[in-house]
Amino acid sequence: MNEQLIIFDTTLRDGEQSPGASMTKDEKIRIARALEKMRVDVIEAGFPIASPGDFEAVRAVAETVTGSTVCGLARALEKDIDRAGEALKNAASGRIHTFIATSPVHMERKLRMHPDQVVEQAVWAVKHARRYTDDVEFSAEDAGRSDLDFLCRIFAAVIDAGATTINVPDTVGYNMPWQFGETIRQLIERISNADKAVFSVHCHNDLGLAVANSLSAVMNGARQVECTINGLGERAGNASLEEVVMAVRTRQDVFDCDTRLDTTQIVPCSRLVSNITGFPVQPNKAIVGANAFAHESGIHQDGVLKHRETYEIMCAEDVGWSHNRMVLGKHSGRNAFRTRLEELGIQLETEEELNEAFIRFKYLADKKHEIFDEDLQALVTDRGMEKINERIKLVALRVCSETGEVPRAELTLSIDGEERTTVAEGSGPVDAAYKAIEVLVKTGADLKLYSVNAITSGTDSQGEVTVRLEKGGRLVMGQGADTDIVIASAKAYLNGCNKLQDADQRAHPQGVADV
Ligand code: KIV
Ligand code: ZN
Repeated sequence: MNEQLIIFDTTLRDGEQSPGASMTKDEKIRIARALEKMRVDVIEAGFPIASPGDFEAVRAVAETVTGSTVCGLARALEKDIDRAGEALKNAASGRIHTFIATSPVHMERKLRMHPDQVVEQAVWAVKHARRYTDDVEFSAEDAGRSDLDFLCRIFAAVIDAGATTINVPDTVGYNMPWQFGETIRQLIERISNADKAVFSVHCHNDLGLAVANSLSAVMNGARQVECTINGLGERAGNASLEEVVMAVRTRQDVFDCDTRLDTTQIVPCSRLVSNITGFPVQPNKAIVGANAFAHESGIHQDGVLKHRETYEIMCAEDVGWSHNRMVLGKHSGRNAFRTRLEELGIQLETEEELNEAFIRFKYLADKKHEIFDEDLQALVTDRGMEKINERIKLVALRVCSETGEVPRAELTLSIDGEERTTVAEGSGPVDAAYKAIEVLVKTGADLKLYSVNAITSGTDSQGEVTVRLEKGGRLVMGQGADTDIVIASAKAYLNGCNKLQDADQRAHPQGVADV
């Protein structure tokens, strides 16, 4: 049997470092459950020292997930490691991931430390982390631009100190696949105690090579890949989980290892992450893009109809695309509703939550006859949104848009339980609605992005609106869905306003100054 390739998902940590992709604790739990269902080996749930919100999210994920190891990130500092240890203390299986930079530019300019001091601190950090768990991962930040001899030295020292996973990040996405593979090969060959640890890689996508670099590393002995759903992550993102996993699964003729993932969960998981973060998946994205299995040219269609393998190297069903996507309608009962949610990896915690979602489903089914998986996802995203919407709620919105007339919106909001109404004009109905919201809420935020996406096809489709608002350096994403796109737009804007005002909104992980 082939060796196991460990899949370490960092959507909830590095993925969350995508500007504007910050997630609430509940959203992280939902994604973590979906990752667990997909049988991801390790889930990096966050950076507990970054903020109280991040600490709580890691703790909650650690208390929820039992089928995957839950990991917390920590710099090679006592306070970080203690915080990670505390957040993970109730995990069925917990890992501390500690890191320090090893490239000359990072050591000299950022850390202002001598290489000897870096080794000493790394060893100390690993030993300290081992006081909390036997599962300790060490990362040499910017390993991709570090000196190979120095990497051999520091890795050998931390393995001696008790690190069980050695991670080699290409932090700035600088490496070429053949170089990176060679680095991994040499590290494993030259480090005398290399057999006491699993070698891992963590590649960024600045040159579009994150997946290629990860696969090259696997060909050269790496047995853990760090990746994210939809390739989310800092700057250009990380290696995309779905691409790495399906490349290894599809090309078992060249790889001598495989993952234990249930690949049929890939598409539902991708949709969930896209819904929660508001980052759409481009249609031509490998594996999870809407066109990934669509054949437009007549020659291709003809070929596929005659024999699927003429133009398809994977089965759409194997990655979770289902042909029968019409799932529910207005006559569907609670059980069918609950079952389909569970199949999509959505677990509603209490009967009350299920009832509330079911009422919303019936309301939607009255307006829209066929309810698709995407509608259910949006329905539950809306439910998550309600949890944040404590201060400001949409009570009523009436817009008037007529040829030759200035669009006008009449809006009633409930703010801290008190209803207030106003009227505003704008260049279009959405603009008028947003101006009316600003009259009442006065956020003063800049609207950085506004996008509308039809959740399914047809004019009765729900519109899903995503906005990005910025105020005082803080960036938040707001989302709303409705069959009426002006109402969906108002819901999205209000969702963003509530997030801006939410005192518990977690600080961005990048807000933590480095060592
Ligand atoms: O890119 C990077 O170097 C990281 C480390 C913390 C692993 O995210
Ligand atoms: Zn990273």
